[in-house]
Amino acid sequence: MSVSLTVNGRKRVIDAEADKPLLWVLREDLDMPGTKFGCGAGLCGACTVHLDGEAVRSCQTPIADAAGKAVTTIEGIGTSDIGKRVTAAWTALDVPQCGYCQAGQIMSATALLKQNSKPSADEIDGWMSGNICRCSTYLRIRAAIRQAAGLPVETASTGTPDQEQAA
Ligand code: FES
Ligand code: FES
Repeated sequence: MSVSLTVNGRKRVIDAEADKPLLWVLREDLDMPGTKFGCGAGLCGACTVHLDGEAVRSCQTPIADAAGKAVTTIEGIGTSDIGKRVTAAWTALDVPQCGYCQAGQIMSATALLKQNSKPSADEIDGWMSGNICRCSTYLRIRAAIRQAAGLPVETASTGTPDQEQAA
């Protein structure tokens, strides 16, 4: 089937099976590898993108469900004000370790701040719990979200990965 959608502000027309996951349309048909494949089962959050502004798991979103909608990926997140603040905080606090999960983390974090501009630590942890990081960068992720929200950042959250793992 032919599907029209907008990806990072650009109109695209895709010829694909209706049940092809949006993740693979992005990576294979549109050559946008920033969105990562992790579990392929909706469990890890590595493939998170925004569909009409909502965070969705692109591995579980058939392309037919994206027809006529606006998709934002990690390649386009820096064009919004919140996305800009989140990516700046991620860089300032040097959040990634191996980096594999981080595109999904940033997409989820930006979706959180869009609907809750001053989240508590518990709200951040609850919202982000579907995004798994095998390098355990959770404390720096929380700190970066707080920094992007203009909230105080706990000193312990900005330690080195070794310090965090020991905490
Ligand atoms: S790859 Fe989609 S949730 Fe893991
Ligand atoms: S930074 Fe390595 S999986 Fe999260």
